Amino acid sequence: MAKIIFKSESSETIVEATNGETLLEVANNNNIKLFGGCCGAGVCGTCQVFIDNNFINKLNEKTPEELDLLDVLPNGNHNSRLACQVIISDELDGMVVVIP
Ligand code: FES
Repeated sequence: MAKIIFKSESSETIVEATNGETLLEVANNNNIKLFGGCCGAGVCGTCQVFIDNNFINKLNEKTPEELDLLDVLPNGNHNSRLACQVIISDELDGMVVVIP
């Protein structure tokens, strides 16, 4: 279990996430507005989020496919991840996720 803090321009929501879920599933299961256009297949990029610096190195590794997609997304930066590709673990307890 991990507490995840989702931040958007207008809101901040703290939710409990279960290990093994993706960040996109956590958002969708908690009525947080985070669109996943390809339903988590990792091919659309609409679920891009920005991860708290303190947690960026605790996340599961990016696949080559995720790296390729993040490279071509507008507004991408060092903290970008696809929410559908981030797997929850205990290590992520307290992580802040910014939804652009
Ligand atoms: S939902 Fe399409 S890349 Fe994540």
